Amino acid sequence: MSSVIKHERLRRWVEETAQICRPDRVYWCDGTKEEYDRLMAQAVKNGSAIPLKKRPNSFLFRSHPSDVARVEDRTYISTKDQADAGPTNNWIDPVELKTTMKGLFEGCMKGRTMYVIPFSMGPVGSPIAKIGIEITDSIYVVCNMHIMTRVGTRVMEVLGSDGEFIPCLHSVGAPLVPGQQDAAWPCAPMEKKYISHFPEENLIWSYGSGYGGNALLGKKCLALRIASAMAKREGWMAEHMLILRLTSPGGRRFHVAAAFPSACGKTNLAMLQPTVKGWKSETIGDDIAWMKIGPDGRLYAINPEAGFFGVAPGTSYGSNPMAMETLHENIIFTNCALTDDGDIWWEGMDGEPPDHAVDWKGRDWTPGGKEPAAHPNARFTAPASQCPIISSDWEKPEGVPIDIFIFGGRRAGVVPLVNEAFNWDHGVFLGATASSETTAANIGDIGNLRRDPFAMKPFCGYHMGDYFQHWLDMGDRLGSKAPRIFYVNWFRKDRQGKFLWPGFGDNSRVLKWMCERVEGKAGARKTAIGLLPEDGEIDLMGLDVPERNIKELLDVDLDAWKAEIQSLEQHFSQFGDRLPGRMKKQLDDLKKRLGV
Ligand code: OXD
Ligand code: MN
Repeated sequence: MSSVIKHERLRRWVEETAQICRPDRVYWCDGTKEEYDRLMAQAVKNGSAIPLKKRPNSFLFRSHPSDVARVEDRTYISTKDQADAGPTNNWIDPVELKTTMKGLFEGCMKGRTMYVIPFSMGPVGSPIAKIGIEITDSIYVVCNMHIMTRVGTRVMEVLGSDGEFIPCLHSVGAPLVPGQQDAAWPCAPMEKKYISHFPEENLIWSYGSGYGGNALLGKKCLALRIASAMAKREGWMAEHMLILRLTSPGGRRFHVAAAFPSACGKTNLAMLQPTVKGWKSETIGDDIAWMKIGPDGRLYAINPEAGFFGVAPGTSYGSNPMAMETLHENIIFTNCALTDDGDIWWEGMDGEPPDHAVDWKGRDWTPGGKEPAAHPNARFTAPASQCPIISSDWEKPEGVPIDIFIFGGRRAGVVPLVNEAFNWDHGVFLGATASSETTAANIGDIGNLRRDPFAMKPFCGYHMGDYFQHWLDMGDRLGSKAPRIFYVNWFRKDRQGKFLWPGFGDNSRVLKWMCERVEGKAGARKTAIGLLPEDGEIDLMGLDVPERNIKELLDVDLDAWKAEIQSLEQHFSQFGDRLPGRMKKQLDDLKKRLGV
């Protein structure tokens, strides 16, 4: 195949990579179903995939116990000048990092096949889409990329003989000597894992991990870290945001893009089932939004992905019925438990736990044991097209016009249910200071406050201070056509530690208020921290929540906010002179409003 590749630069890169990695063979992926079926059959044969009797064309993989999540500590933004990576990223000098990694890549694919995956992030040929080529030695990666991106021949056609592509090199880092039995989940030890980004050259090198965002390089590596740096240079936006469409009873459409840190219910919100009467919601994306200013001056968003790589535990008909309905067939499950009748199971699924299962480590499991049956970061990989409420416009090449941005986090106190920014700069301030209490899904101690600006802390491919400035610049360009900005907290608790707000489908009540603000129909009261709904503005019809809860949810506790100032100042101080003056002014204005 390589001899018929018209794209000289691509052909040379693949050949050079093969010379370094020394695979037994090189295979160019065509993205067909036949290819997926053939490779999956191979994974079943070698013991790394288990077909599920209960779900057609669905398979369970179990990772190595040490390779279960993204590894932020081993993730690098490698720029010539360390200052350009900024305080929120790990950095190694590119010359040094490449030397180390070349040493690791040397002969790393021995005994394996090197797969070349041409993929498009975004509908093939969309003016917002980008092409990547992932080289990998993992069948698991190829099959997941088939679901998560658009793979194959159509991409090569758009690439032509000299189109731009982002080279993404991946190896599990486990060469085989002749006759050696392969592991079910090959990977390298932690100290040899490197998830490296070279944003000045649009290049990704990933070594040693086979899991999710470390290995499916189109997702966090390309669509967020590299894309955010490209977007800054080229004047567009690559954000860690879900996209959804709300339609009012009168038929008006609103498009919402929302950023939340991990474990704040992003996929649930993306697949919301509104409880508020007459409103309809459709999913466009659950994790990433790429946005460009369109010919009419508005901001248009596409979902660059083609699938969902969702956290399984906690997903149920109660929390996310539309996700459950997406998972009946054609799914890859990773690190879920296997039931005796050939289905998967995880903690938090509806109904009673099975009497017996095989846990994610392949051991017998019965309820009541110390360890969970599914890993807390167990995942499903699902085609977005299978979601029953996927919007008919989810693959529109030009995207959908965004009306509303939402930021948020998980806070037991202080932050009210909803708060609208006074203006764009204040909205950027809300995004820049977004905070969340850590849960088991985050690294770090449970219950600690983590500032996660725009939910991009692990994903911004350059200096976070410059990223804030980019948001300000985009707002200047959008002017009066800029989306309105809101901040939400679905997780506020009372003194007994009980959630004050029911969340899930009832979040539609808050979204309705936002849409009515955009339409100029709903009022708001000015407070020190932003614009909050007037009494009675949130539609609570049919909702059984005590009046006092609503009061507390929409209360602005000035003393609690005053106590936040020190943490905000500390947060901003890390950006030094790259913190935009306009952000500093926002903090000063907040202090004045609070009387600090
Ligand atoms: C994800 C994440 O996996 O944000 O999407 O951690
Ligand atoms: Mn994410």
